Amino acid sequence: MSQPTIESILQEQRLFSPPTDLAAQAEIKSLAEYEQLYAQAEADPQAFWAELAEKELEWFEKWDTVLDWQPPFAKWFVGGKLNITYNCLDRHLKTWRRNKAALIWEGEPGDSRTLTYAQLHREVCQAANVLKQLGVSKGDRVGIYMPMVPEAAIAMLACARIGAPHTVVFGGFSAEAVKDRLNDAEAKLVITADGGFRKDKAVPLKAAVDQALANNGAPSVQNVLVVQRTQADITMENGRDHWWHELIATASADCPPEPMDSEDMLFILYTSGTTGRPKGVVHTTGGYNLYTHMTCKWAFDLKDTDVYWCTADVGWITGHSYIVYGPLSNGATSLMYEGAPRTSNPGCFWDVVEKYGVNIFYTAPTAIRAFIKLGNQHPQARDLSSLRVLGTVGEPINPEAWIWYQQVIGGGQCPIIDTWWQTETGGFMITPLPGATPTKPGSATRPFPGILADVVDLDGNPVADNDGGYLVIRHPWPSMMRTVYGDDDRFRRTYWEHIPPKDGNYVYFAGDGVRRDEDGYFWIMGRVDDVINVSGHRLGTMEIESALVSHPAVAEAAVVGRPDDLKGEDVCAFVTLEHTHSPNDDLKTELKQHVVNEIGAIARPGEIRFADALPKTRSGKIIRRFLRNLASGEDIAGDASTMEDQSVLEKLRQGS
Ligand code: WT7
Repeated sequence: MSQPTIESILQEQRLFSPPTDLAAQAEIKSLAEYEQLYAQAEADPQAFWAELAEKELEWFEKWDTVLDWQPPFAKWFVGGKLNITYNCLDRHLKTWRRNKAALIWEGEPGDSRTLTYAQLHREVCQAANVLKQLGVSKGDRVGIYMPMVPEAAIAMLACARIGAPHTVVFGGFSAEAVKDRLNDAEAKLVITADGGFRKDKAVPLKAAVDQALANNGAPSVQNVLVVQRTQADITMENGRDHWWHELIATASADCPPEPMDSEDMLFILYTSGTTGRPKGVVHTTGGYNLYTHMTCKWAFDLKDTDVYWCTADVGWITGHSYIVYGPLSNGATSLMYEGAPRTSNPGCFWDVVEKYGVNIFYTAPTAIRAFIKLGNQHPQARDLSSLRVLGTVGEPINPEAWIWYQQVIGGGQCPIIDTWWQTETGGFMITPLPGATPTKPGSATRPFPGILADVVDLDGNPVADNDGGYLVIRHPWPSMMRTVYGDDDRFRRTYWEHIPPKDGNYVYFAGDGVRRDEDGYFWIMGRVDDVINVSGHRLGTMEIESALVSHPAVAEAAVVGRPDDLKGEDVCAFVTLEHTHSPNDDLKTELKQHVVNEIGAIARPGEIRFADALPKTRSGKIIRRFLRNLASGEDIAGDASTMEDQSVLEKLRQGS
């Protein structure tokens, strides 16, 4: 099975209508209804969002201005006061949902736990009081480095309760990566666990935090709060480290929500970009709350009786928006699972669907491809008839995987919701609505109401239907990122000036290539910058290159993506060595491990190729295009005459 190619998706003509009975009961029931909503939002985005903000959220104080747009800086619901945890928790306690399951957690070695809204509220309030006790107050940043346990969500909500922006670092990142993020955010406290379970293994987390903090590595951090999960043997530093369960045991459950300004920062989440270190994407309170609420409600056609399961990790934006904030704001039952697809337990996902009667299931193409490989017998041996809506996110889905998902998992009965969005957008931007949008395998279909998506060339000129171009968004939306933490200039350059504004009209540049067909359907072609997408995880090639060159044996490194059947893309690194070192297999292994230590296992190069020299232009720039060709075993495309040394390519080709 391969990734979608232009040829394969140009040939893709199949169209699947929403199931009639689903449409009849859906919030948005027909294409006409979607189009009417879209037109209404397009004509007056501010009125559209203001009406929903009024109807769907509770505010302590109403806003005075819906949108203050000083390009590229947006403020939504200016002057409004709210607390997202009030919308996610307190307001449900006033209804029958008080005793409804808010979180269902399925842990790895057979553990499970259900927290009702009342129980979750209580634990969040207690944790919030613990944070206060440890000196955290409104505006202080808190690092969260956790496995997939309920305390990860509780920690996020506890921060939001008191107005302390969280910065969650995915539990698979290394100590070095943790250190960089804690320093950039100047976090005052870190919440972690002794360890977590990842694919049948207990992995350490606290030890990585210790390493990050060693030798005054992150001087802003004053305290570490540790959840007990794996019973790993860890060291607790007196005065600095505290057990979560000990402090929670005596903490009061009374913690009124801090009234937050709509534009107060809710969280920072780091993501990879083209250049330099990962950037801290800043999201604020009101607009993010509204947008994740609405997209979760409409795109999943969420019902109060549903069990909803998003398989992402809370360390990514998908976990933030669609495990924690979006579902809880809607009063939904959100399932959290600590496991991952693996050969040692090939039916584990379908056991969870069967056990809890999951109705909405949201995962990534890379997981779908792994399920295909594990074999149809596993889903077929389970009762999956509870499923109603199936979602996918993270990378373009190849039509074969889409059809398999629809047939084998959905039994041909469930709409496939292919959601295109990014850490920066906060929520779904292009997505079908299950009762309204006919789907085409491989297309994220059409933009969400209020999202003015377009396809342009590099000068910002619109391109014709079916001509490829760059994906842009023309009007601010409530959950757009507000800035790069501490770097407004980088925010402006990366997202708003790449395509020059015309007549003061700024457009948001997403960094994806796209084609729009004659029906207005968007077909995402993947990144157009030096970002690669490995198993739905975003990695900057330059980050991996810096990791490699920090090894004493490496003189130069160039990293490119190469197509991979399972992961979508894999990391392929071309490396030239210092004269003191010679190429051998042990060194390859060592360099791969070095990248794991510097960034994390997700960045481990699938392949390292040693080279005498790298292809460069006369001005010394590495020509990655050629390396991409070489890595994927293609012919070198394009003109090599600008190259400084023609023999380099020939050698690389022979060496491969
Ligand atoms: C990049 C954003 C948003 C949560 C997961 C990743 C790619 C995302 C799709 C999709 C094709 C997709 C894009 C995008 N992407 N969803 N449905 N179809 N590509 O978030 O780490 O911020 O990465 O993921 O290239 O720019 P992220």
